[in-house]
Amino acid sequence: MSTVRIAPSILSADFARLGEEVRAIEAAGADWVHFDVMDNHYVPNLTIGPLVCEAIRPHVQIPIDVHLMVEPVDALVPLFAKAGANIITFHPEASRHVDRTLQMIRDHGCKAGLVFNPATPLEWMDHVMDRLDVVLLMSVNPGFGGQKFIPSTLPKLQAARQRINTHVARGGQPIVLEVDGGVKTDNIAQIVAAGADTCVAGSAVFGAPDADGGYRSVMQALKQAAVA
Ligand code: DX5
Ligand code: ZN
Repeated sequence: MSTVRIAPSILSADFARLGEEVRAIEAAGADWVHFDVMDNHYVPNLTIGPLVCEAIRPHVQIPIDVHLMVEPVDALVPLFAKAGANIITFHPEASRHVDRTLQMIRDHGCKAGLVFNPATPLEWMDHVMDRLDVVLLMSVNPGFGGQKFIPSTLPKLQAARQRINTHVARGGQPIVLEVDGGVKTDNIAQIVAAGADTCVAGSAVFGAPDADGGYRSVMQALKQAAVA
């Protein structure tokens, strides 16, 4: 059995029942809660902030994976750390000082990561490998749930996997390789084969009605398909 992690994105959850929704995905076997923060500046959409992170924190034990689609980044780092975030990732184009922001995230006790848009080159990793706990490749353009997976993410994943493996082989710390956007049961096998160990899934998970254990069956279907 593969150890692929599934991080349901609450962007597609029912926000009127968010506490219930995060408890349901944890009970259904979710590994992380993926928390999409959008500011109507870095991306053309507006979502949730530290207040909502703090509100859901007592409802789950699993890590909260905060994906910042905001510009600037730094002021939100301490606020999310205080609100109970475990992982904080950001887009390098949105920070003036990427190295400093990465350090700041770890200094606040969280795991730190960079997010690569479909057109963002992996070279952004080069000089900060030892400051990374997570590398997140966007397989859609950020801003909305329910978009179609961009196939050029697959060779990019292979390239990122190679960089990470080389880093680890040289004695570096482990780095999670996460994918975000358009992950479904019919493409997760290719995504994992290309090197991802963690998959965000928004519409795939929350599109299923939970009343009849739907979240659990989608989660199982994703994990099973990942090893097929
Ligand atoms: C997009 C977000 C994603 C999104 C994924 O900007 O970062 O996390 O919620 O949703 P799906 O899985 O529906 O593509
Ligand atoms: Zn996301």
